[in-house]
This record gives sequence, structure tokens and C-alpha cells, in this order.
Amino acid sequence: MQTKILLQDHQIPKHWYNVAADLTSSPAPILHPGTLLPVDPDDLRSIFPLSLIEQEVSRERWIEIPEEVLKIYQLWRPSPLYRAHRLEAALKTPAHIYYKYEGVSPAGSHKPNSAIPQAYYNKMAGIKRLATETGAGQWGCSLALANSYFGLETTVYMVRVSYNQKPYRKNLMELWGAQVIPSPSQHTAAGRRILNESPETTGSLGMAISEAVEDAASHSDTNYALGSVLNHVCLHQTVIGLEAIEQLKMVSDYPDVVIGCCGGGSNLAGLAFPFVRDKINGKQIRLLAVEPSSCPTLTKGSYAYDYGDTAKLTPITKMYTLGHDFVPPGIHAGGLRYHGAGALISQLRHEGIIEAAALPQNACFEGAVQFARTEGIVPAPESSHAIRAAIDEAVKAREEGKQRTILFNLSGHGHFDMSSYEAYLGGQLEDYAYPEENIAASLASLPRVK
Ligand SMILES: Cc1ncc(COP(=O)(O)O)c(C=O)c1O
Repeated sequence: MQTKILLQDHQIPKHWYNVAADLTSSPAPILHPGTLLPVDPDDLRSIFPLSLIEQEVSRERWIEIPEEVLKIYQLWRPSPLYRAHRLEAALKTPAHIYYKYEGVSPAGSHKPNSAIPQAYYNKMAGIKRLATETGAGQWGCSLALANSYFGLETTVYMVRVSYNQKPYRKNLMELWGAQVIPSPSQHTAAGRRILNESPETTGSLGMAISEAVEDAASHSDTNYALGSVLNHVCLHQTVIGLEAIEQLKMVSDYPDVVIGCCGGGSNLAGLAFPFVRDKINGKQIRLLAVEPSSCPTLTKGSYAYDYGDTAKLTPITKMYTLGHDFVPPGIHAGGLRYHGAGALISQLRHEGIIEAAALPQNACFEGAVQFARTEGIVPAPESSHAIRAAIDEAVKAREEGKQRTILFNLSGHGHFDMSSYEAYLGGQLEDYAYPEENIAASLASLPRVK
């Protein structure tokens, strides 16, 4: 009855897995936000280093992880795979439940898996500062951490509602040397425009991305770094699934279902993409994305070309979207408040390889508390979506009297999310209705791409 399934330092994967190599149809081209024509990779040079642009469009299956990145990964990777014996017992389920725990990174989530290589490639390109957005603060912390390893400066535009909900995340970013600005702000033209129109806005990831992109594009020593969505971010995260495959082999098990919460899609991609190959090759395995019902991108959005940000500064990608000016309700899983989803996640969802479900926040917090009271770890509110879905799968296995192997990504811990737990335990947490009218209004302003 093994509980922790551990790999050694030398077993950290040496390559990232690029799912684009195994897709059955070509990814849709990325379009320029001004011309609506396919982007020339050179157009991206004002905000990204060449090495990351190359990864963004690569169809090579395996991409080598630089030695410098591996050395830093080694501080916490390989991350443990746990068998949730105590949760299984509480649920009286015949299912095997496994979770890959990414909260062991210094920042407390999976996000440094991409922050470290992004900082590394920018440092190699001679960049001095990185500008970025953050929702709940996990990505901002991860980039501040990564930049502190490589001696880069960090500017973080933090979604205002999270800035107010999670003050200690701000302190942590500052501790690692970042400047943190609540978004929308007076620092950028995009922020000033949004504040002018909606002075009381909660902010959104779409708005914060606009500010960070504008900051990077207008300073020659500064680049932009994104914590999710993009192909190269999903690529970097695949160390999670590659390790999990090896760890499951050690206990002679294989998942029937792989579950991840989904904001832009990077932690789900990280765990699930290495299993996509098996699925394409005929293996019976389900891959499940779980999103909040207040921001139901993959379950209620359109599969269409849209901007990645509110101010329409980013390239246009084909993805599931709720519309670039949809502002999701201020739920406590701030990292899941994004109007779009990664292009690769969206394509796989569209092709039926990934399934999606949307859950309300109270049910997710209930699952998180049950998890904390059995397994002990306090999950990030984002990760609680994966936990709820895993519990539901395990209960279904019990009701059907079937053994089933469930693998989910515990993408981060919730040590800085106590105000959300306080609200949940005090009965103060609201379940927002599906914001159908706002989504319809926002979808009406999608770019008209032929
Ligand atoms: C702990 C955690 N999990 C998940 C997410 C969602 O992002 P993604 O869908 O890119 O994994 C976030 C985003 O901030 C996060 O902090």
C-alpha cells in the first residue's frame, strides 16, 4: 500500500513533450490583431525571445530541456505522486485515486515549470525585465521567483479583485523582487481606458494581459511572459505528465481518467498531453478539463478566433472563448477567470479528445475541505475544481461497483487563500448564476475573421 510514489533527481525528464507533433489535423494559424492575417513569427519579436517563438510554432515531438533549467527544476522536481488512500476510504470507493502534487514548488504551484524556462530564455536573449499579468498571484509569484534566480526584474499587473483578496501573494512577489501593480491601472494607456469606462471594475486576466503586453511592447529592454494558454507554456508543463507516467508504472497502474482544472489550460495540458498520444493510438482513457460554472469557456463558449486580451493587443487565436471583453464574476479561483483557453487545449476539446465540465465554487470548496480533512493538504481554490471532479468520479465508481483509476493534478496549495476558505466556512461564498446574457453580449464582438 504505497502512498508516496517518488522518482529520483536524475529521473526528471530531459525533454518536454510537444503534443503538436501528434495532432491529427494542423493547428489553425495565429492571426495579427491589426491585419487579421497570419502572423509572421517576426511580429512577435517585440515581446518574446526567438527561442520561445520557435517553441510556439514547433511540430517537433521532443524538445530538450536546457541544463540550467534542469538544475533549478531539481530544487523540487520530480514532484511526488500520491495515492489518496485516506480519501478513498472516506468515500468508500473501489477506485484508486492518485494526485500529482505540484504545490511542492517554492511558489506553491505548477507555474514555475514554465516561469523558469521563460526567464532563462529571456536572460539568454539579453532582456533585463519581464512584464506579466497574474490572477490569483500564483503565476506572478512564479515569475518573480524565476527572475530572481536569473537576475531579471519583474513587473506584475495583478487583477484588482485578487490583489484585494490575496494581500500575502503580493508580499511574496515583492519578497522575490517584483513590482506589483493592481490592474487595471494608470500605468498604461489600456488600463487608463478601461478605468475611464468602468472605474469600479474587478479587473480580469484579459485586462491585466493588455497592460503587461503594452508595457513590454513599449520598452526595448522588456519582454512579456504569459503564465498559461500559449503552446510553449503547455509544452513546459509536460514534465508533470511525463513524471506521472513513470510513477504509475512503478505501481503497475494506468488511469481511466485524467483530470485537471482549466483556466488557460496549462496544468491540465501538463498532466494530460503526455496521455494524448496513447488516446490517439486507441487507448481507452478519458481526459477531463474542469472549469468554474461562472466562467464556462470550454462548456459554453464558442470555438472561434478571438483576442487573448481586452484591449485587443495580442495575436488572435482559434480557441474556445466567452469573448475578449467578458468579465467573469469575482470568484475565489482567480486563476480560472479567463475568457479563453489555450489553442491546443481548444483544438483537442473540439476534436473530442478532451472532455469538459463546469462546476460551481461551493461544490468545489466542499471537495477541497473533504480533501484537506482526509489527505491534509490545503488545495488552491483552482485545484479544488479537479478535486471535486475526482471525488464525483470516485463516487460514481462506488455506485457502479467498478474499480477505476483516477489521476488528477493538485496544481497548487492554498496557503495564501485563507480568505476564500474563511468565506466558505462562514457560509459567505456565492454561487454565481451562469452569466448567459453577458457572455452573449461579449460573443457578439468577436473579430470577424474570414
Ligand atoms: C494553482 C493553480 N491551478 C491552476 C491555475 C489555472 O491555470 P492553468 O489553466 O494555466 O493551469 C492557476 C492559475 O493561476 C493556479 O494558480
